[in-house]
Parts: sequence; structure tokens; C-alpha cells
Amino acid sequence: DQLVVAVDGPSGSGKSTVCKRVAAALGLRYLDTGAMYRALTWWALERGTDLDDADAVAALAVALPLELGQDPAAPTVRVAGTDVSAAIRTTRISEAVSAVAGNLAVRAELVRRQQALVAPGGVVAEGRDITTVVAPDAPVRILLTAREDARLARRAQEVHGTADAAALAATRDQVLARDARDSRVARFLDAADDGVVQVDSSDMGVEETVATVLEVVAR
Ligand code: CDP
Repeated sequence: DQLVVAVDGPSGSGKSTVCKRVAAALGLRYLDTGAMYRALTWWALERGTDLDDADAVAALAVALPLELGQDPAAPTVRVAGTDVSAAIRTTRISEAVSAVAGNLAVRAELVRRQQALVAPGGVVAEGRDITTVVAPDAPVRILLTAREDARLARRAQEVHGTADAAALAATRDQVLARDARDSRVARFLDAADDGVVQVDSSDMGVEETVATVLEVVAR
């Protein structure tokens, strides 16, 4: 199957959950590009690399011994043989990742790897620049959005297991700070472009959002 479904969206828009479900439903691979930036950030911190040393981090990106699982039922991420699937989702990585993602030599290397993974087709690829930079020619391009309150509630539930006032406040600080850092990274992150179908998941559950994306694919 040559189908490529490109999905961009901000933190908490439901991208990961929805893209895994869509890939499983269509029998496609699942490519989580954010996991690549997170894995590189984990490796740089593990090795004690100064994240402000752009050349050193770029060299690590080129050498990154990454195995990225693309089975939507088990998208395991390994770096140098170590399973980092859980480690790359910690607050420590979420707080450091924008600095790494803002390194243009890093982006060039990871985009090159992402394009090689997308090229054979048969994939749902998600990220922040997939519809604009990685796969601008994909036959299906979607920007998954959600209102800020919905995005924060989902992230709080995911990270703290609850969306009570304290969890919401902690999540708000973290998510908005990362959004702000990301918006300095590159103007194209989350930018909608001609031909990109916007899906707002604020008032939809997972099932409904998956069904909506599948309808867009079927058009
Ligand atoms: O956790 P969340 O869904 O917000 O983000 P993610 O998809 O895991 O991506 C983590 C970080 O990687 C983002 O905050 C961006 O800094 C960066 N990223 C990027 O620059 N380009 C991509 N295609 C994907 C992620």
C-alpha cells in the first residue's frame, strides 16, 4: 500500500492516540517523529552533552543508534539497544526537547531519516512539520487541533492520572512553556497550509476523532 497519511498537531491534540488507531485500522505503519526528537534528547542527556553545543548535538543526531518501532500496537523506541519508550516521556525530556528540536542541523538529519521512512508509503506519520516539511506531497494531510482547555485536560489526565485543579495548573505551566519554546523553534510547526484538512478534536472522544480522520482518508 502506498498510502501516506500525514498528521500534524500541537501537544494534547490527541495525535498519538488517534494516529496509532488510524494506522491499526488501515493496516499501516505508525511513525512518531516526536519520539525521534525525544530519543535524541534522552541520548544527549545520557551522555552529558551540553544541549547548547549545537555542533555536538548535531553530531549525536547523525550517529543516533535509533530503532523506532512502527507497529501501531507496540511502537517501542530503542537507543543503542536500550528500551527508552517510557524514559522519553518524562518531564525531564519534555522540558529539554525543544532546545534539541530547535537545532537546524538536527532537524535536517531527523527530517532526512523521516523522509526515508515515509518514502515506501503505507504509513501514518505524525509530528509538527509532517504536512509542511517532511511529507508535503502526502495524499492525505491533516492538522489535528483542539482548544487549549481540552489539550490541557488531556495532558493532565495522561501525566497525572487526573484533571483536577492542581494537575491542570501543573500541566498548564509545562505545556504552555513548551508550546512557547516550540513556537520559537520554527515558524512552520503546526502551520496549516493549503490542502491541509483541519480536524478539531476538542469536543470529540477518541472513537469519533478516529472515525473523522478515517472519513478524510476515504475522500
Ligand atoms: O508530547 P507531544 O505530543 O506534545 O509532542 P511530541 O510529538 O512527542 O514531540 C515532542 C517535541 O519534539 C515537540 O515539543 C517539538 O519540540 C519536537 N518535534 C518537532 O520539532 N518536530 C516534529 N515533527 C515532532 C516533534
